[in-house]
Amino acid sequence: MLYSEKVMDHFMNPRNVGKIEDADGVGEVGNAKCGDIMKIYLKIDNDVITDVKFNTFGCGSAIATSSMACEMIKGKPLSEAMELTNQAVVEALDGLPPQKIHCSVLAEEAVKAAVKDYYDKNGIEYDSTLFREGSHCDHCSNAEN
Ligand code: FES
Repeated sequence: MLYSEKVMDHFMNPRNVGKIEDADGVGEVGNAKCGDIMKIYLKIDNDVITDVKFNTFGCGSAIATSSMACEMIKGKPLSEAMELTNQAVVEALDGLPPQKIHCSVLAEEAVKAAVKDYYDKNGIEYDSTLFREGSHCDHCSNAEN
């Protein structure tokens, strides 16, 4: 089977789908190559993520990783959310096929973009090197189409 049970489960029954109207941080990232878009909304209280929702217009792997990423950062301090890597999300899903690993990069980037949005809106200083600009996925940046 190409996809793990967990991937199929999060794809068929994604957790935390939706929008938070009064979100404290919103992150939107897109994959220029495939055109998929992921948007993550965070509710933050005292540096802790109290709620998170996402909307992903993309492939099944992008939806499964968004769902899992939201589960992994819910109730966690921002510092922990910033340490979330796409590899950790892929591991939590019991793996993705090699050609779909790049889809998980969207989830990591969207979470970071939402945290950055929160910092920017509130004038909170941060180490900008923590936020990598653009796609840092070799597969995507090297892909021909
Ligand atoms: Fe675009 Fe999966 S193919 S995110």
